[in-house]
Amino acid sequence: MTPTDLERRETDAVDGAGVAPGAGATIVVCATCRDRADPAAEPPGAALAVALAAEAPDLTVRTVRCLGNCSRALSAAVLAPGAWTYVFGDLDPLSDGAALAEGARLLAASADGTMPWRGRPEPLKRGLVARVPPLGATIPADPAAVPLTEPA
Ligand code: FES
Repeated sequence: MTPTDLERRETDAVDGAGVAPGAGATIVVCATCRDRADPAAEPPGAALAVALAAEAPDLTVRTVRCLGNCSRALSAAVLAPGAWTYVFGDLDPLSDGAALAEGARLLAASADGTMPWRGRPEPLKRGLVARVPPLGATIPADPAAVPLTEPA
């Protein structure tokens, strides 16, 4: 998939519920992803989460043991009430914390519950693994309806 394909799909109209006004975003960092260059080293996610919590007091930062994206470590997810959830991989623990914080703020400020492609930091474009609609999103029951990500 080319970035152009990704961008088109990401910016197509969606029918998810919007983010609750004023709701904050949460960054969930995997604390058990191994450094592929040095698998014996301490997993870097916990340190990234601690740094994020200190540098981004407007955001909630949590750690979990595995996001199921181990082959693309380091993994993290960005969540907000009523919004799509975004899972990212191939993150650099030393340089991508600011990108995660910026993405979380973009999602929290979004009117339609999606993280806008335009203005999204590059690590969150190339590192996108999945996005998942929020509970309560209007998803057509007819599988042939091609919901959410294709233009009408
Ligand atoms: S150990 Fe981090 S995603 Fe599985």
